[in-house]
Amino acid sequence: MTAWGNAGPFPPQDFRAADTGICLATASLFVYLHLGSLSDDKGHGAGKVMFRRLPLLLYVGSTLLLFTWGHLRSSFHSQVAHHPLDHLIPEAQNYHKTYLSQASTSKTLSEAVQEYQRRYAQLPPPGFQHWYKFATDRNSAIIDNFDSIHQDLLPFSALSPQEIRDRTWELISNPWNDAAGVMIRNGKTEAAPNILGTHRWMADGLGEMFGKFAEWLPDMDLAFNLNDEPRVVVPYEEMEPMRKAGLKRSGLPVAPGTSFSANRADGWTAIPEEPNSDSPLQEISWQKTFHRYGMLGCPPDSPARNDRLWDTGSLCISCISPQSLGAFLANWSVAADICHQPDLADLHGLYLSPAAFKGTHQLYPIFSQSKVHGFNDILYPSAWNYLDNAKYDPTDECPDKSFAEKDNVLFWRGSTSEGVSKGRGSWRGMTRQRFVHMTNNVNNTAPSKVLLLPTEEPDQYEYINLPSTKLTELLPTDVRVVDGIVRCAGPDCGNQDHEFSPFAAPLNFQAHWKYKYLLDMDGAGFSGRFLPFLQSKSLPFKTALFREWWDDRVTPWLHFVPLDLRGHGLWATLAYFHGLEGFIEGVPGQKGSTEVKINGHPHVAERMAMQGRDWAGKALRKDDMEIYMFRLLLEWGRLTDDKRDTLGFDGNETRST
Ligand SMILES: *[C@@H]1O[C@H](CO)[C@@H](O)[C@H](O)[C@H]1NC(C)=O
Ligand SMILES: *[C@@H]1O[C@H](CO)[C@@H](O)[C@H](O)[C@H]1NC(C)=O
Repeated sequence: MTAWGNAGPFPPQDFRAADTGICLATASLFVYLHLGSLSDDKGHGAGKVMFRRLPLLLYVGSTLLLFTWGHLRSSFHSQVAHHPLDHLIPEAQNYHKTYLSQASTSKTLSEAVQEYQRRYAQLPPPGFQHWYKFATDRNSAIIDNFDSIHQDLLPFSALSPQEIRDRTWELISNPWNDAAGVMIRNGKTEAAPNILGTHRWMADGLGEMFGKFAEWLPDMDLAFNLNDEPRVVVPYEEMEPMRKAGLKRSGLPVAPGTSFSANRADGWTAIPEEPNSDSPLQEISWQKTFHRYGMLGCPPDSPARNDRLWDTGSLCISCISPQSLGAFLANWSVAADICHQPDLADLHGLYLSPAAFKGTHQLYPIFSQSKVHGFNDILYPSAWNYLDNAKYDPTDECPDKSFAEKDNVLFWRGSTSEGVSKGRGSWRGMTRQRFVHMTNNVNNTAPSKVLLLPTEEPDQYEYINLPSTKLTELLPTDVRVVDGIVRCAGPDCGNQDHEFSPFAAPLNFQAHWKYKYLLDMDGAGFSGRFLPFLQSKSLPFKTALFREWWDDRVTPWLHFVPLDLRGHGLWATLAYFHGLEGFIEGVPGQKGSTEVKINGHPHVAERMAMQGRDWAGKALRKDDMEIYMFRLLLEWGRLTDDKRDTLGFDGNETRST
């Protein structure tokens, strides 16, 4: 977009209608649409034709939807002892316990200083004592583990403080860059005057957040990414030495300077009245970005840098196996690493055709709400969530009932905003479109979708393929595009109309809590809704390329259900929780018919939903966003200070200002 309003519909359009209709009315409409889709010949007949294996010239990603058993067989044995989720779910408990055991070991300020030195091999930044008080006053569940900040900032040590300041100015002095300047002077926050009116709310949101701690921040200017899409990919070959330089720089000054330089305000060049017209950024909006940006953050010998997959109709086994256990997503952080996944070039809107992409291969300091592996943007907690733009706020009409009382359905509403399909069919590869297709194309009889069924032996399971017709019949989903197709041009508008109509009515955001399972899929950037989903008593299912500031705090299979971007595990995963009973072959009661039954795990689902809710209430509050941001900006203050190599807080409060 042009993110926040001037052109793009996401996120507002996703929930457009927060003001239309009451929940009950919308709910009955959904039922109608659901039935409607089953009996509507036209839309889905067209879908069926479109989604046959297409000649390559015509695009492609869509054919990924038709994995055949042959493709899958090589990735996992058809017979397995024990259900993978009976292993992954308890393991997630242990993983989180281990995380907790090291996230907050310090009990006093001086222990926190020591722990900081142990982790990051340097002293904490000046002002750390104020941060510590701020965090402990707000009962922060996390005091010591801010590794994500450390990772994001490490390479910036390779730039001099002056270079960082100059590059910040380059970004915020030209409005074309879509970067909002935020100035901190004398403990007050101010937005640069040249931010477009439609983006203003974001700067205002940041101002409100910073207001809580700005008195402790040194004078500085910051560049915030106004677009959803991240910006900076420094090629791996250049980035590695920068990271190493960052690691080397650390060390403990003998007599640390404890306050930031006095004349810092002078170090930041004023934003000119006449906009600067030079830009370090290159625009490739609406174009493919994987090979020009995405993959460059990977090692030169990695598959992402070397393999181009032309046969996008087959499942790339080497792309999925590192993060998979059978059909299930086993490791969320490995899944985030794109370097072994060259097929992602054709499987996500960011790589296929982003709505706004103004990027650079040089290390420019820009703060973004989300990024993908390989990008060097600095993550910060989105003002969108901070301002409660999509809030968990159940009402009398839209209550958040107990899990057991909710509808037993996997639910999603959203728009086709992940990327711009400008006429050559790239929508067929986009994650949202693929998942909506998968859960709705009722007449696709290709034996293609995988399910893990119990066998007659105890604790033995077998993978089988079933046509979508069967799966949509056996497992209830309500996954639909709202209102109409956006971000399209040429034939891609009409083709998507055919495939995805009838469209769902706009949704009151609070109507989500009616459903047990809430699907969250990437749009053009960070998810505006995942945090409220976690806060609710429903269980979020999430598939995503983008990662956000909270990524290492939240544990998949404990707080939410992770899904691979390719979607091949969707049905088997849903069946584990939901359970399933019915005929998978033949006509009930007649010869040759096969009946199946999978026992659901609603109590496991409920426990996960409540654990996610509980943890969100401890570690993903607005307080936690402030705590993260405060610490990030103290670190940033030191990095941009000419005296940075001798600055630190050594635990001696009396010496500090
Ligand atoms: C699916 O196919 C059957 C049999 O050809 C047909 O009767 C039905 O109308 C189709 N439904 C849709 C939604 O296309
Ligand atoms: C995921 O894989 C990484 C790298 O192999 C490993 O360090 C991490 O512990 C794994 N995470 C889980 C939840 O198993």
